[in-house]
Amino acid sequence: MNEKGRVAVFLSGRGSNFVSLYRDSLKTGANFRIEAVVCDRKKAPGLKKAKRFGIPAYLLSHCEFSSQAEYEKKMIDLLKQHRIDLICLAGYMRIVGESLLRRYPNRIMNIHPALLPAFAGLHAQKQALDHGAKASGCTVHFTDAGTDTGPIILQRAVAVREGDDEETLSRRILKQEHRAYPSAVRLFFSGRLTVVGRRVLISENEK
Ligand code: GRF
Repeated sequence: MNEKGRVAVFLSGRGSNFVSLYRDSLKTGANFRIEAVVCDRKKAPGLKKAKRFGIPAYLLSHCEFSSQAEYEKKMIDLLKQHRIDLICLAGYMRIVGESLLRRYPNRIMNIHPALLPAFAGLHAQKQALDHGAKASGCTVHFTDAGTDTGPIILQRAVAVREGDDEETLSRRILKQEHRAYPSAVRLFFSGRLTVVGRRVLISENEK
C-alpha cells in the first residue's frame, strides 16, 4: 500500500475542522494522516484536542519571535521534521507569509465559511446575513498571498433562512465545512487536483 499523505493542521481556536479531518483520516480507505498540529494561541481548545488524540502539537506564539520570517523559519523546521506534504489551515487567524507560501506552493489549503469570492475576511456569516444573501456556504481553497483569494477547490452551499442569526447560520455552514474539508484533502492526495491559473481542475480518476 502507498504511504499516506502527511498533513499538518494550523489552528487558533476551537478546532472542529481539525477534528473532522482527524476523524476522516481514521476511516478505512483514508489516504492521509495528520502528523502535526501547529497553534498560535495557548488557550486554543484545538491544541488540547490534538494532545488528547496523541498528535504532536506545537504552540508557536508569534510574539516569541523577532519577525514573521523567524516565526516561519521555526514552522518550516517543524514541517520538514514531520515531512509534511500539505498544510491545512483550519481557523488559523494569522496571515501566511512569503517563505511558507514559497516553500509549499499549492500545498496550503484553507477553509472559509462563505461562498468565495463573496464575504471574504472576518465574520463571513454575519456579512452574508447583513447583505441579505439567500444562500451562503463554505469554500475550501488553496492559499495565496491575499486574504481568502486563492484558487477554489470545493464549495458547498446552504440556504439562508429568514429566521437565521449568526449562530444558526454558522452552525449550518459548519456542518458542510466538516464534509468539504476532508473531501478536498482526499482529492489532493489522490492526485486529482490540478491548478491552472485561478482554476482547480478535478480529474475523474486517481493518478
Ligand atoms: C470555521 O468556520 C472556518 O471556516 C473558519 O474558522 C472557523 C474555524 O472553526 N476559517 P473551527 O476552529 O474549525 O471549529
